[in-house]
Amino acid sequence: MGRTITFTVNGKTKQECIEVNTLLINLIRDNFNLTGTKYACGIGECGACTVLMDGKPILSCLTLAVDADGKSIVTIEGLNDEISRTLRESFLEEGAVQCGFCTPGFLIVSSYLLKEKPMPTEEEIRQYIKGNLCRCTGYVGIIRGIKKAAERLGNRSST
Ligand code: FES
Ligand code: FES
Repeated sequence: MGRTITFTVNGKTKQECIEVNTLLINLIRDNFNLTGTKYACGIGECGACTVLMDGKPILSCLTLAVDADGKSIVTIEGLNDEISRTLRESFLEEGAVQCGFCTPGFLIVSSYLLKEKPMPTEEEIRQYIKGNLCRCTGYVGIIRGIKKAAERLGNRSST
């Protein structure tokens, strides 16, 4: 059974007729070719498929596309504000990216974290990224990258 939904993806309004059991990750990747959102476990365990829905991180492998009706979706391709640009730089400098498969999910969650808590403690960083798995980095570089981005953004706003 099909249903027509209207929503925005990375700021652009879209209207799609989809099957009601279509997953959001498939809509994003297959219909819009936004392949930065990764499919890995498919069961809500790894965070690789994380996108923002109305500004909050959600797992697109566990979300029906019909739930995006009337909502705003932001994928890694649409994350381009100062926080996310600073996070990208800091991730690269701190060795937070190796194979890169987990990186889009970590950037989505980290940018949400720094909007909510501009100067997070290490404990808060660990809390926010606890739903995201990385098999390469041991998380040390990722945590350093988030801390460095927070410091840089803090320094910029205080000068
Ligand atoms: S692919 Fe969605 S949580 Fe792993
Ligand atoms: S960098 Fe390879 S899974 Fe995280």
